[in-house]
Amino acid sequence: MGYFQVFLLLALIPGSTGLDNGLLRTPPMGWMAWERFRCDIDCRKDPTNCISEKLFRDMADRLSEDGWRELGYEYVMIDDCWMSMQRGSDGRLQPDPDRFPGGIANLARYIHDRGLKLGIYADMGSATCMGFPGTTLDKVELDAQTFASWGVDYLKFDGCHSNAIEQSIGYPLMSKALNWTGRPIAYSCSLPAYLGGLPPNVNYSYLGNICNLWRNYDDIEDSWASVKSILDWYSTNQDDLQPAAGPGHWNDPDMLIIGNFGLSLDQAQAQMALWAIMAAPLVMSNDLRTLSADARAILQNRVAIGINQDPRGIQGRRLLQELGHIEVYWRPLSHSANALVFLSLRQDMPYLYRNSLANLNFPAGSFEAYDVFSGKTLSGLTDHTIFTVSINPSGVVM
Ligand code: GLA
Repeated sequence: MGYFQVFLLLALIPGSTGLDNGLLRTPPMGWMAWERFRCDIDCRKDPTNCISEKLFRDMADRLSEDGWRELGYEYVMIDDCWMSMQRGSDGRLQPDPDRFPGGIANLARYIHDRGLKLGIYADMGSATCMGFPGTTLDKVELDAQTFASWGVDYLKFDGCHSNAIEQSIGYPLMSKALNWTGRPIAYSCSLPAYLGGLPPNVNYSYLGNICNLWRNYDDIEDSWASVKSILDWYSTNQDDLQPAAGPGHWNDPDMLIIGNFGLSLDQAQAQMALWAIMAAPLVMSNDLRTLSADARAILQNRVAIGINQDPRGIQGRRLLQELGHIEVYWRPLSHSANALVFLSLRQDMPYLYRNSLANLNFPAGSFEAYDVFSGKTLSGLTDHTIFTVSINPSGVVM
């Protein structure tokens, strides 16, 4: 059967697009290796940082012992470069034997024993982005079964080294193959990122039926410039992207880089605040073993997490871009609450920004405001009160 026939067949099977796994009613939270640890596979030279079972066990220890798990950070996620360069004689993917001597099932047990979940990475195509074995169409079902048999809870399915036709068949096929295993496995699709991220190339209502989340855009890197360009792309295209998100299906602007080398504390608060507004996955890629107390406080901010995890699951939007390089973001929440973020893209000094809730489309009434990062409460606001917030350069008030 050619690709075209397979595609037609998939399109004709009734209900063939329902993911329906009940997972990720709120955006996933956890830790992922890629942004911080990349494809460091030299465990002789760099035993503490190389992609190995030790790295994932270390992170599972930190997540379970340092208060992360209780806050919702539950997934420990392997990214690229975990595999052996060859499939096994049975055709199955296998981990690199030197770096994962205990195998993935053992690692999954270790992670599950700590009340956490395991994520893994594969690639729809002839090879992963870093050149490890890919999942060609004939291997989709086998790989899904292998992951399920190991006790995997989440799959990031990348799309390097495949063409648009293979992707259009492979992503829905993997969705079905994961369901067929009978194990609930959250499914992250990189497909939109390979199609330019926007309609008409990407059909988000269709994607919401086959994937729990999807990467739409570029990989994040360890810099404020990278955070800003991602934020700006999602906001510029929010009319297409924002309606696609909801319980069980999320846009993924990529990992939190808080605690690494590229962000100031203000910029780190900004990433946390804006990822909360965007209903983005809160998936950290940092070194939890050496994280500073400041970075931890930002990542463990209960109110910011609560906003991100709001059960209505409505993605927020950029409301305003002021000429003075101040932007205002808004997300409606449960219990008639709202989250607002005031972002300064200025480079001079803390900026005193004045506005009223009426001017931000709030209904008439009285309000109480809570400043997420200072912990201060402001009572007695009405929709017409002119309030002032002091926003640091490349910082936020939430
Ligand atoms: C792609 C993905 C990244 C990461 C790398 C691994 O670039 O977008 O998130 O998974 O591949 O090679």
